Amino acid sequence: MKMEILKRLQLPDHLKPLPSDEANLRFGDIYSDHMLLMDYFDGRWRNPRIEPFGPLLMSPAAMVLHYSQTIFEGLKCYRHSDGRLALFRPRDNFRRLNGSAERMAIPLLDDAFLLTALKELLKIDGRWVPSHPGSALYIRPFVIATEPHLGVRPAREYLFMIITGPVGPYYKEGFAPIKIFVESCYSRSAPGGLGAVKAGASYANSLLATEKAAQKGYTQLLWLDSCEHRFIEEVGSMNMFFVIDGKIVTSPLENGTILPGLTRASVLTVAAKLGLPAEERPLEITELIEAQKNGRLSEAFGSGTAAVISPVGLLHYREQDYTVADGQVGKITQTLYDELVSIQYGHKPDPYGWVEIID
Ligand SMILES: Cc1ncc(COP(=O)(O)O)c(C=O)c1O
Repeated sequence: MKMEILKRLQLPDHLKPLPSDEANLRFGDIYSDHMLLMDYFDGRWRNPRIEPFGPLLMSPAAMVLHYSQTIFEGLKCYRHSDGRLALFRPRDNFRRLNGSAERMAIPLLDDAFLLTALKELLKIDGRWVPSHPGSALYIRPFVIATEPHLGVRPAREYLFMIITGPVGPYYKEGFAPIKIFVESCYSRSAPGGLGAVKAGASYANSLLATEKAAQKGYTQLLWLDSCEHRFIEEVGSMNMFFVIDGKIVTSPLENGTILPGLTRASVLTVAAKLGLPAEERPLEITELIEAQKNGRLSEAFGSGTAAVISPVGLLHYREQDYTVADGQVGKITQTLYDELVSIQYGHKPDPYGWVEIID
């Protein structure tokens, strides 16, 4: 069934001023003029609409407030030098949103419709897509359980929304190497848990450990497996890659404890195209530390929509700091970053079909 998107647009003289300093945008502080909403009740998604960005009215008994039945996605819209707006792998984000919905007992959404709706929103708020190098419009689709009910069961009413806002680099370090704390006490996700989906609850669970690491001066946490704290999993909002003996290594996804990052998948595809050897295999933290000690670990980087590629210059494990090679950005890290960013910003043609132009 085709759904019409109702539009109630902001009055022109109520539009917000664009950020005055695009070069110094932070992550996640500023929102565009409009948002997209869609309700679910009586067994189907309905009433898609675009409205001025603003607060929600919700019952204090809304189930999301009590049992965290909520999921989200994160993707970006880039401004190409010819002014055109381009999304990066949006279909994959909406597919993953449905994977998260399924795991969190949320009714599935029509992902083709979501892409149409997102494009409508971006046509209205296109002026918010910044053009400064490294900046983009961050897009946050999410679903919350709105039914007022305190019994524990899947809700029968939901709200789907998309909000957007211009962003700069995710880490204050920008593309400079970050310092990572290897967590050997807290756990992010267990087999059968929520690790492979984007559920708000997972991120709430990560806050305390991340905060403790931040207080010690580390930008992010590297999570190990929850059973033995032995195998490397991923970083707070990035998948991890290491270059050992000249080969790119990243943890496999089979256990369902790691988020299947779209940037991770893109890195693996680009590496194959560029002839860079890469493998997905379990990697023990002790093997990594050994490789660092005998000079076989030459690079480390994280991958994710927010930071794209983030070089890692230092790992902290059990009271000790380990510098990754010379602590600078490695050659493979730089090559992969340049390749991905060139495709995202349209500086190079996209041979993979990842870029979706909004026209
Ligand atoms: C836990 C986690 N891992 C990895 C990623 C990277 O995923 P993607 O490359 O799709 O942004 C993210 C960000 O979405 C994340 O939250």
